[in-house]
Amino acid sequence: MDDSNRPLAALEEWEDFLKQRYPEKGPDRESFQATNPEKKKEEFRNYEDNARPSVREFYRLNHRHQTYEFVQSKRKEYLGLKRKQMTVWEALEYLNTLVDDSDPDTDLSQLDHLLQTAEQIRHDGHPRWFILTGLIHDLGKILCLYGEPQWAVVGDTFPVGCSWSKRIVFHDFFAENPDRREERFQQRLGVYEAGCGLDRVAMSWGHDEYLYNVVKDYLPTEALYMIRYHSFYPAHRDGEYDYLMNEQDRKMFQWVKAFNPYDLYTKSHKKPDLQELRPFYDGLINEYFPKTLSW
Ligand SMILES: [Fe+2]
Repeated sequence: MDDSNRPLAALEEWEDFLKQRYPEKGPDRESFQATNPEKKKEEFRNYEDNARPSVREFYRLNHRHQTYEFVQSKRKEYLGLKRKQMTVWEALEYLNTLVDDSDPDTDLSQLDHLLQTAEQIRHDGHPRWFILTGLIHDLGKILCLYGEPQWAVVGDTFPVGCSWSKRIVFHDFFAENPDRREERFQQRLGVYEAGCGLDRVAMSWGHDEYLYNVVKDYLPTEALYMIRYHSFYPAHRDGEYDYLMNEQDRKMFQWVKAFNPYDLYTKSHKKPDLQELRPFYDGLINEYFPKTLSW
């Protein structure tokens, strides 16, 4: 693949950057949740200034290329789900073939990370569908294996077809996005109606929306929200785009928020024992999903 489309050495670099911006605890986290918007803006700026060059370049490409038109074309290309028939385990093993250039911190695989997330959710006594969501929530990253550039697989997601929130990190890079010149896309509501509900809103293309479409007939609404919006940091961490939401969205975002700590902070160096865990997860997968899914 063209290297200019993969500035990150590993997809985890994006997640590491999220952890810097949204630290789990400590004074940073507290000040981030303070109500002074000027202070928040300043901190955002700091994170941008301190980002690795690879992360900066990743966001530059993402904000440059995620246009309304691009999203529509990817939806058409993928959401017919005509590529593969795979069981959940086959998809997990397929995702595991995704080898990043280097993640010097760890020799853990994508599957290990997903098992860690699920195991922490299980440990905390959450419902079975919540555990299953932890296990599968990043399976959409197989988009990388179809040849999609990193900027069309990961990254904080945001609505397209309306103006970009000032709270989206690296907002300045939107200056290069062709939608900048489209009058109707530069309005607060853009092509949408106030309170229309997120289901009607096209999000920047990535692994969340793809996986949502694969599993949408099989999981409870709460789980589907977690999967579909777990990368929508501008909304679930910064409270933006409320004006596009309906009542269901607002209610369900409590679950998206509940899921976020498991997504960001549960990855450890301890390798999960797949042999030991397999029977539990086989049972869980069979409880919710048919034998194979369309991808
Ligand atoms: Fe994710």
